[in-house]
Amino acid sequence: MRFVAKTLYGLEKVLSEELISLGAGEVQIANRAVLFEGDMSLLYRVNYAARTALSVLLVIADFRIRSKDDLYKGGSKINWDRYMDPDDTFSIVPVINSPHFGHTGYPGLILKDSVADYFRNKTGRRPSVDNSNPRVLINLHISNDTVTISLDSSVVPLFKRGYRQDQSVAPLNEVLAAGIILLSGWKVSATLIDPMCGSGTIPIEAGLIACRIPPGKFRQFYGFERWKNFDEDLYEKIKYDCNSLIIRSAVKIFGSDISEQTIQVAKANVARAGLNDVIFIETSDFKDLRSTDDIGYVFLNPPYGQRIQPEEIDNLYSMIGTTLKHNFPGNTAWLITSNKESLKHIGLKPKEKHILFNGALECVLLKYEMYQGTKKQGRL
Ligand SMILES: C[S@@+](CC[C@H](N)C(=O)[O-])C[C@H]1O[C@@H](n2cnc3c(N)ncnc32)[C@H](O)[C@@H]1O
Repeated sequence: MRFVAKTLYGLEKVLSEELISLGAGEVQIANRAVLFEGDMSLLYRVNYAARTALSVLLVIADFRIRSKDDLYKGGSKINWDRYMDPDDTFSIVPVINSPHFGHTGYPGLILKDSVADYFRNKTGRRPSVDNSNPRVLINLHISNDTVTISLDSSVVPLFKRGYRQDQSVAPLNEVLAAGIILLSGWKVSATLIDPMCGSGTIPIEAGLIACRIPPGKFRQFYGFERWKNFDEDLYEKIKYDCNSLIIRSAVKIFGSDISEQTIQVAKANVARAGLNDVIFIETSDFKDLRSTDDIGYVFLNPPYGQRIQPEEIDNLYSMIGTTLKHNFPGNTAWLITSNKESLKHIGLKPKEKHILFNGALECVLLKYEMYQGTKKQGRL
């Protein structure tokens, strides 16, 4: 079976490594996606355990077209009754970039007709479209002459883990948070601190990684559960296998934030994720914090400045640079922001730079290495 796991820009490589470790074959990196092969148990496993996938599609057909009619014909050749019954509802998500079609809606209508006619010819009945709560969600991708038709096995995007019911002002997408941590090379032997933790997404994703808790553990539903060929016993076995890898970890993860209200949100989310024994949350201004581990990791997702005066945001970034330099010697810091102007006020030279997107905002993720203070150098 051929699959496509979608992800955020910049996380393709991290996701491909995750997929290989989950047992995927023929792994191939694409734009915001990774193609791979495997069986149904792998599809269930990736949905349940991959931290950096947004959704997983099962490819059911791909073909070339020379005209609009070819789309109808290609759709009619699919054995739709392998996946759904005439009484089921379906919906089509079109992603179209093709000279054959002027507007996106039209190819979706052609495929809809071909699905409906397939069942009407065979059974006299036809499935109906339900765009709000379909039983089967079909993805129609047309790039120039190439059509790929897939079923969305996730439906509810995989960043919706289920532990974060309370949000702070600008929460990070969970997939982005997990991706940043996996990109950073953080090992659980190093203390992790997020001193501007907001609703706690980075500490929680780090806690899940450290304790090997699958990100799907808190979810209620995946799209594949509604497919005609859903194998519940197999799914239960996959969940059991994944959950049996969970460990108690001695990891130390700290989250703090200047806002007391936000800290209450973070504490509730940490509790919901069952991570009270590994994540410690407190209210604090970053400038008052000091490292407790001289090989620690600091993750920073500071305000980008949309709701703050320019001078104030420049001062905040300047404070971040000074605090890292003086209070976190020996530590590695990773900072994500879209505010490239204020970044100049940090006054530290990055060792690595990655481009990522936080929603529609293009961001940089920067790595800073803080040197040990003069005291230690003097001793050498
Ligand atoms: C972009 S939000 C972080 C969102 C977070 N990553 C999440 O997923 O919810 C930035 C946070 O920085 C906090 N903040 C601003 N200035 C601060 C300071 N001087 N010290 C600590 N936290 C600060 C804000 O209260 C806000 O919660």
